Amino acid sequence: MSEGPLIQVTDLRREYRVGEVSVPALGGVSLEIGHGEFVAVMGPSGSGKSTFMNLLGGLDRPSAGRYRLDGEDVTGLSADALAAVRNRTLGFVFQSFNLLPRASALENVALPLVYAGVKVAERQRRALAQLERVGLADRAHHRPSQLSGGQQQRVAIARALVNDPRLILADEPTGALDTLTSLELMALLQELNDNGITLVIVTHEHDIAAFARRVLSFRDGRVVEDRAVGAPARAADLIRDQGQCARGEETPSDPETLHLAP
Ligand SMILES: Nc1ncnc2c1ncn2[C@@H]1O[C@H](COP(=O)(O)OP(=O)(O)O)[C@@H](O)[C@H]1O
Ligand SMILES: [Mg+2]
Repeated sequence: MSEGPLIQVTDLRREYRVGEVSVPALGGVSLEIGHGEFVAVMGPSGSGKSTFMNLLGGLDRPSAGRYRLDGEDVTGLSADALAAVRNRTLGFVFQSFNLLPRASALENVALPLVYAGVKVAERQRRALAQLERVGLADRAHHRPSQLSGGQQQRVAIARALVNDPRLILADEPTGALDTLTSLELMALLQELNDNGITLVIVTHEHDIAAFARRVLSFRDGRVVEDRAVGAPARAADLIRDQGQCARGEETPSDPETLHLAP
């Protein structure tokens, strides 16, 4: 681990060419994200959030600007070198889970290890350990269609974790989930962050952003606000409070934090 920030972008830009027209999706973003941070990226549809995440994840290349990941300038790397950095540094989670439909949960989680050249017995052991970590060891042989949305997203997180990354990038990970399932997923992400994993997640829900320690707001391809969250809500506490409310046991200590209806 380097001494400096985990992520450092300088005047990062991305333009898409559509026919003769150039669409500026990201108009010059400069910022740093430190080791262990939990950052929420917010902003209206089309403001450049996914473009930014794809650049951070090395899934796309900037048109201009510089990107240093854990001290290494990855801007000019070849496709293979970039893929290698990506595999050892970060995991990516998508709104639509992106699991292979014909593969079991275990095979889906093990997939990045196939690319990393890990032998089959070791792949299975490590994939199962990650499924255990997300509470799904007993679903290892289920296919995605045999799992709920929340369980599928947990499999996707286990897959993102299997290479032991320092950074998890998630683009609207709760976008396809109901309120309680979203809370459960956020409790898992907060637990990972407690254990030192840096998180950057896109969300358009303020209730979800409230679990982060820092919120970046995008508009028209730029960061228009960058603010710290004083005391982030704890998803596990909200789940417990909701359970108590449902059973009529006790009023939660701080009803202000319970604006969770969709
Ligand atoms: N592959 C693409 N080709 C052309 N334009 C794109 C492409 N992807 C995104 N854009 C445009 O870039 C802008 C930012 O998109 P995006 O990063 O997906 O926004 P967000 O994730 O905040 O909704 C939008 O104007 C969008 O239409
Ligand atoms: Mg998007």
